[in-house]
Amino acid sequence: METKIIHPSELNIAIKGIQQGELVAFPTETVYGLGADATNEEAVKQVYLAKGRPSDNPLIIHVSSKEQVLQFVETLPEKAKELMTRFWPGPLTLIFQLKEKSGLSKTVTGGLSTAAFRMPNNELTLELIKQSGRVLVGPSANTSGLPSPTLAEHVFHDLSGKIFGVLDGGMCQVGLESTVLDMSSETDIPVILRPGAVTKAQLEAVIGEVSIDQHLVSETEKPKAPGMKYKHYAPKTPVVMIDYHMNNWQEAINEAKEKGQKVGVLINQADAKNLSNLDGVFLLSSQRDVKEAMKSLFAGLRDLDERGLDIIFSETYPEKDEGLAYMNRLKKASNQKTYLK
Ligand code: TXA
Ligand code: MG
Repeated sequence: METKIIHPSELNIAIKGIQQGELVAFPTETVYGLGADATNEEAVKQVYLAKGRPSDNPLIIHVSSKEQVLQFVETLPEKAKELMTRFWPGPLTLIFQLKEKSGLSKTVTGGLSTAAFRMPNNELTLELIKQSGRVLVGPSANTSGLPSPTLAEHVFHDLSGKIFGVLDGGMCQVGLESTVLDMSSETDIPVILRPGAVTKAQLEAVIGEVSIDQHLVSETEKPKAPGMKYKHYAPKTPVVMIDYHMNNWQEAINEAKEKGQKVGVLINQADAKNLSNLDGVFLLSSQRDVKEAMKSLFAGLRDLDERGLDIIFSETYPEKDEGLAYMNRLKKASNQKTYLK
């Protein structure tokens, strides 16, 4: 199959594709999603195949309104309504208990009695959902294990030949996947299963106490968010973090160069000016800014991975607010490795 890059003016091609059970990647403010009609069992199966995704890892259902969620959920908790009013459309995914006959197949839910919902903040994609008359599954549109795509080109790189098309909406503005909040328990306080651009403090300002499950589970445990158990976001080239307290960039670079390695760095422009002896640089921000760094991290990992380097050093941020999401992804990309000296 020849994968089409679909221009925004050709939205009708994407709509027809979805209606005919094809896979169409769509832009969102976080990352590109691999779209398919959530109620078309065959199409959803193809999503797992195209990504090489394990079948027990459930998918997010993308809606174009709050009301659409009520097709699948008996009643929305009060706190959920407040969060939807404040953050939808936006980078917040909410997990709810499904109603008895939700019509969602095991393939979508991974056999769970809950499902994840999100209304993405992207005009084109909201139109795609509305005009196709479907709700869409949308895992990140990358090959499972690689960094999530933040440009249509990234999707094409991973999935060309395997999917019908990519709706090209340019660069994703947030750059990391949505915050996932589990609201499925009537008694427990809501739990953040995946940190993202909507921070714990922002959620708590609306609904009161929220907890974070940062536990990265082993292969044999049954995880709360099945996606947490897989190594994610990792490029082929080894990535090593530089602790911002230590600021030992040049030592790390020199040591690698002495071993004959080709070295790349992911860093802000101001700090990059002090470094020498580099084979590749990707700038994440101009003045060390965590939001800008979030936006460019995946693109930077992909870019440096194509340059034949032996090692990539990356900047780190304090693990709070947006820094929590940035560090969560970077730790996975680096297998938690920090340069020590
Ligand atoms: O920003 C995003 O969320 C992007 C864009 C395209 O919307 N989508 C995305 O989907 O990141 P995906 O499939 O790559 O990640 C969904 C995460 C996985 O970690 C999955 O395990 C978790 O949400 N998840 C989905 N349904 C769940 C459920 N019922 N209970 C717990 N975790 C769930
Ligand atoms: Mg993903």
